[in-house]
Amino acid sequence: MSKRLAGRLIVLGITGSIAAYKSPEIVRALRAEGADVQALLTPAATRFVSPLTLRTLTGHAVDADLLDLLPDGRIGHIVAADSADALLIAPATAQWIGAMASGLAGDVVTAACLATTAPVIVAPAMDGEMWAHAATQTNATRLRDDFGYALVAPESGALASGATGVGRLAETAAIVDAVVAAIGAAPIREPNESRRPPAVPAGDLSGRRIVVTAGGTEEPIDAVRILANRSSGRQGIALAEAARDRGADVTLIAARVSVPLPEGVTIVRAMSVDALNAALRNALLAAPNGGAATPADALIATAAVSDFRVAGGPLTEKLRRDGEITLRLTPTPDLLAGLAQALGPRATRQTLLVGFSAEASATPRAREKLQQKDLDLIVANDVTAPGIGFESAENAAEIIGADDLVTRVGPAPKRVVADAILDRVAALLSTRAG
Ligand SMILES: Cc1cc2nc3c(=O)[nH]c(=O)nc-3n(C[C@H](O)[C@H](O)[C@H](O)COP(=O)(O)O)c2cc1C
Repeated sequence: MSKRLAGRLIVLGITGSIAAYKSPEIVRALRAEGADVQALLTPAATRFVSPLTLRTLTGHAVDADLLDLLPDGRIGHIVAADSADALLIAPATAQWIGAMASGLAGDVVTAACLATTAPVIVAPAMDGEMWAHAATQTNATRLRDDFGYALVAPESGALASGATGVGRLAETAAIVDAVVAAIGAAPIREPNESRRPPAVPAGDLSGRRIVVTAGGTEEPIDAVRILANRSSGRQGIALAEAARDRGADVTLIAARVSVPLPEGVTIVRAMSVDALNAALRNALLAAPNGGAATPADALIATAAVSDFRVAGGPLTEKLRRDGEITLRLTPTPDLLAGLAQALGPRATRQTLLVGFSAEASATPRAREKLQQKDLDLIVANDVTAPGIGFESAENAAEIIGADDLVTRVGPAPKRVVADAILDRVAALLSTRAG
């Protein structure tokens, strides 16, 4: 039997219904008909079905955050809207149908529907009373009659609440039939792959073990206060995600971060300099320390490690506001230099060491650090420049190698900077293998 969706791109919008657990099955059914599928999720949907599962099944980065750009810097919901042959919203919640009927663009699924001229197919799923409510019926009728969306009516049967009624997501086969019918004989909208949502990269780091540190360390002052810094962890998390997407087995050692930690990587939390040091040694130094059995291929040290801590250790009680106090600070050890020493000279060690130099006019200082610490690569970024560095979504950097090769990247989304760093890591690893 010929595949009815061969060459088509179907954008699957998933919203926060219990029936979201059926979305992997819908992806499989669409792919079995020859379609390329990309998933867009509302924030609520991510609580019902894992973005990692959908990324793996579709082969595309999942878009679940309206304000996040795609790994290649494009706006995800616009790329989806412009290149899809059809947008299928399954399951569609009462909330989502209401938001769509009002033209609200508060999540990637509504935003993509507003931005597209492709056919939209909506498969509602909800409790029977919710579906029967006049508000839901009015909103659903508006989608069908005013917007021209195809509705795949929910079916009668047992619902998640335990009740029986009309509200259950239609059968997958009926949903796929509705997509095929809505597209009809229209030509393929975007045959050019490069304008479609990006595919997950082929895996040039597959089989590699990569350790990334992210965030800022905190050092206790007393029982409740800490010395911290403004690192958000974004660049390290972008590196961990990019390495994972390129096939690496990733360990992310996370200090204090202000953004969500990624899925699909091993997470180790380490808040203080000492805890970070212990976690690094455990992940990178082979037994007898009881540490890593297989040497890591690379350590990318993005964490902003405190340079100082309270001399003599923190106070065990909370300091009182009884007048002026003086804090005496003492320097912390340089973790990366210590590790470089423990792992042996650059020419013979197995693990590539990548450091970061986040300072004003970073480049000259970065070259010094590269040599002093015996690193393979150092990433220099000027954290004082406006719009890049700490707390921002973008970064601009120079990636300097011990071989003196310099790559400049940005200002660009931190994921783009991450991929540029990994390009250098992958190149060094393959030279070494050769
Ligand atoms: C366990 C559970 C199951 C739910 N299932 C549904 C459902 O099937 N349909 C629905 O309309 N809402 C359902 N909800 C409520 C939605 O998750 C909620 O309205 C949410 O705001 C929807 O957001 P979204 O439409 O932006 O994804 C459920 C809530 C919970 C806690």
